[in-house]
Amino acid sequence: MEVHGSGTTDINSNNIQTVRTRRARRTYYKGGTGKGFWYSRSGNPTRNCLEKCLAALEGGKHGLCFSSGLAATMTVTHLLKSGDHVISMDDVYGGTGRYFRSCALPMGIDISFVDCTKIADVENALRPETKMVWLETPTNPTMKLVDIEAVCKLVHDKSQAFVVVDNTFMSSYFQRPLSLGADIVMHSLTKYMNGHSDVLMGALVLNDGEMAKRLRFLQNALGPVPSPFDCYLVNRGLKTLALRMRQHMISGLAVARFLETSPRVLKVIHPGLESHPQYELAKRQMKGFSGMVTFLIKGGKEVATTFLKSLKIFTLADSLGGFESLCELPSVQTHASVPADQRELLGITDNLIRLSVGLEDVEDLINDIDVALKVAIP
Ligand SMILES: Cc1ncc(COP(=O)(O)O)c(C=O)c1O
Repeated sequence: MEVHGSGTTDINSNNIQTVRTRRARRTYYKGGTGKGFWYSRSGNPTRNCLEKCLAALEGGKHGLCFSSGLAATMTVTHLLKSGDHVISMDDVYGGTGRYFRSCALPMGIDISFVDCTKIADVENALRPETKMVWLETPTNPTMKLVDIEAVCKLVHDKSQAFVVVDNTFMSSYFQRPLSLGADIVMHSLTKYMNGHSDVLMGALVLNDGEMAKRLRFLQNALGPVPSPFDCYLVNRGLKTLALRMRQHMISGLAVARFLETSPRVLKVIHPGLESHPQYELAKRQMKGFSGMVTFLIKGGKEVATTFLKSLKIFTLADSLGGFESLCELPSVQTHASVPADQRELLGITDNLIRLSVGLEDVEDLINDIDVALKVAIP
């Protein structure tokens, strides 16, 4: 019998014998030519290199890579069992909400979607069986901020739960949740961390050794791992993270400021604007801002669609965080899986447009937006 992740087979024996520890397997392989790598799902040199790099970037001890951001989310949730309870920020990436509602809930894990910007609401939602609190900040796409430090303090003081922060929108360059008290940082590496729009990958970073051991076991036992080539590509992407993020921030703010001056725009939501209701928290919690800009165009779905289709440099797409500028209508794209009444409550209306401002010349980008706004609202 072979037990993946926790055991191996002693092939020297006539009667095949199970040796129940990874250490035994490692020792056995070290005697040969394998250098401790026996199967790429369990680990390979390129993935190990990236995992160490990601841990260092987040200021954590342990890094683990997955085949997508959602694969990382699924694996963390496997730390729980039926009967456990999760508090999730109400305004999370649509796919995260769909996973919690349609996959975790039917497996017996109870989920409360809570506005975690309100500490009292988090406190009220805590139960003895709450095991995980899931935050995303800034939220996608409405750019609300959660006070990571305050929520972590409350959760750790009042419960046994651990706190996970989805750091995809900020990247490790602008926000480091572990330093604010979070237990686990999650990334869709697909976005800013890789930055080249040629990889789908996710990651977890944490300090707790026991939890890391269990996650390492799940990584191998569930199998949602990336290819070594994709790990190579993210390693390459990270080499320019600092430069890219600085430019995303400059261009994102320039676009947001331009939109604020437009008579065709109802409201601009960007945590780096003084008009953002949590501007002070943004300055305290983040070291900068990415290229994500959300705004409400004057009009409804038709006007928003005309605007999006009139853009020449921005490409209509669900993704974000790459070198190229992307645009989308969350209500029919990334957040279509969020129930309509919930979308309305969260403010994901049909005139809410999300831009991922890329690395092209910023004047060209602003001109592109200006022309498209004038086409949509003559
Ligand atoms: C904030 C956020 N978290 C998680 C994910 C899921 O990541 P992936 O698409 O790599 O599975 C996304 C994807 O868009 C995202 O925007």
